[in-house]
Amino acid sequence: MANDYCVLGIESSCDETGVALVRVQGRDLPVLLAHALYSQIEMHQAYGGVVPELASRDHIRRVLPLTQEVLQASGKCLQDVDVVAFTRGPGLAGALLVGAGVACALGASLGKPVLGVHHLEGHLLSPFLSVDPPEFPFVALLVSGGHTQLMQVSGVGRYQMLGETIDDAAGEAFDKSAKLLGLGYPGGPALSKLAEMGDPVAFKLPRPLLHGDNLDFSFAGLKTAVMVQAKKLASGQGCAVEGLPGQVLADLAASTQAAIVEVLVKKSLAALKSTGLQRLVVAGGVGANRSLREQLNLACARRGVRVHYPELHLCTDNGAMIAMAAAMRLQSGSQAASMTYAFDVRPRWPLDEIMA
Ligand code: KG4
Ligand code: ZN
Repeated sequence: MANDYCVLGIESSCDETGVALVRVQGRDLPVLLAHALYSQIEMHQAYGGVVPELASRDHIRRVLPLTQEVLQASGKCLQDVDVVAFTRGPGLAGALLVGAGVACALGASLGKPVLGVHHLEGHLLSPFLSVDPPEFPFVALLVSGGHTQLMQVSGVGRYQMLGETIDDAAGEAFDKSAKLLGLGYPGGPALSKLAEMGDPVAFKLPRPLLHGDNLDFSFAGLKTAVMVQAKKLASGQGCAVEGLPGQVLADLAASTQAAIVEVLVKKSLAALKSTGLQRLVVAGGVGANRSLREQLNLACARRGVRVHYPELHLCTDNGAMIAMAAAMRLQSGSQAASMTYAFDVRPRWPLDEIMA
């Protein structure tokens, strides 16, 4: 690979089509030239969640116009693309196939190599796109819709799992609780918005595994506790849960958020303590949560720990993190791009399979 090259990244694992172009120069941190994103949220809202077949079809509609947009914004053309990267998994099979198919077709027609990226590694390395990028090593708290993991990260591909959820992910806990409260999809942002007007100590909700001696999480019981509490309140008022007074719903939302945030913060601190590391990186959609950021900033400042986040708009799925992860893998030598265009996708793909 030359010393100066461009990587196009395509993300299509779920309900966002993302395309981005990054430039790699020698050993410098790759630089984002442009990125474009189309969120399908509005389309799926009518169904209360992501409809996989609709997601795939929409990725087909969006991916090439977004690619054109990115090339135009960066002043480049297709021939300037040296490597085409795509999300190979985990995610929805049909949705992943769109990105993989388009990436490999582009690669084949341009005579350029392709590279399949692990979606979670994209999230994990996304803080390197921020104005305040971290340095290795660090503890990573990866909190997305499908995953909640604490990792020790020593370098690209050098990840050691410290703990993970044994059932629901943190994002799932936000989404499922929000649905119970009638807040629709996607629940995380809606619940956290409502929580701003509520009292976080109004209701006592469980904080599972908080004092356990490991770094695992469990969030499945929380939604049940929220449901029991909400139904009790609703039957007391003789109404449906959605019909509860706004302040009561806000208090429930705030108490739910407080339970999730407290567990995430305490476990992150425990991971820092057990590894002796002084740097924390937060990634994934839940990393956009304001209360989580505030509590982590406070707790880490007290202990002299530096915390890094992706830029707010790059917390949720996007193409920039895929292009960046591909660029960093190429740069570190942990993966080579391939001139073989027969592709597969990995809807379920444990992160430890890509660890160096
Ligand atoms: O990383 P992501 O975009 O997709 C996955 O790879 O799963 O994460 C999506 C998750 C959803 O569960 C969404 O509700 C949650 O991130 N999320 C939030 C916020 N923004 C997105 N959760 C809490 N507060 C937010 N502000
Ligand atoms: Zn994601």
